[in-house]
Amino acid sequence: MDKYIIGNWKMNNSVDDLPAFVKEIKKNGKGQKNLVICVPATMIYCASKLAKGVLEVGAQNCHFVEKGAYTGEISTEMIKEVGGKYVIVGHSERRHIFGEDDALLNKKVETALKSGLKTIFCVGETLDEKPKYKSVLKKQLLDGLKGLTSFENLIIAYEPVWAIGTGKVATTDDIVKAHRYISETLKENFNINPPILYGGSVKSSNSREILALDEVGGVLIGGASLKADELLKIAESRGN
Ligand code: PGA
Repeated sequence: MDKYIIGNWKMNNSVDDLPAFVKEIKKNGKGQKNLVICVPATMIYCASKLAKGVLEVGAQNCHFVEKGAYTGEISTEMIKEVGGKYVIVGHSERRHIFGEDDALLNKKVETALKSGLKTIFCVGETLDEKPKYKSVLKKQLLDGLKGLTSFENLIIAYEPVWAIGTGKVATTDDIVKAHRYISETLKENFNINPPILYGGSVKSSNSREILALDEVGGVLIGGASLKADELLKIAESRGN
């Protein structure tokens, strides 16, 4: 299976950028599989219409209830209704800027997995936590996936917080160690073996060596996913 190339546009780009973006991928990226952009909620409908057969589209967050009095929130059903196939849960910006904790994320992951959306659950340590990254990852994984039994749609993203948007990419050694640890923890506690993506300052100049690692099931890309040509270069660096 082709490794995942997943863009996270965060709160960037606009609906007006979508036609040219999709056109470029259509023209130069024929046959690229598992290529996804997670766009702001307002763009999911338009992006999934335009990108049909070229790219898949996802959301960057969801609520844990299907509908109700939750002003400002968006449910997994709403994401699916407008063509979203993926959702990111527990991105470090949601954890650190918006205070989403493991208990809340556990409910979101459960709802997202049940909905049938491919659920990209993010984990990662801050710079201060780097010396004890194993215990941080273990807690995020065990608490985030607590009580869950069906993991078919789960994708894990290892994103060290110190590497996100900083230009400081983790070394391949850091990546291999963390991915192996995540993999062992998941096997031991849940008996599962989902794809584990790396995220944090991935760009076309470093993606080839990251994607060549057996432990890496793909990449989650912020800044470098905003331009179609750069995203395509990263997809092509999969070399398969
Ligand atoms: P970055 O972001 O590629 O801009 O570092 C990655 C992410 O936040 O998913």
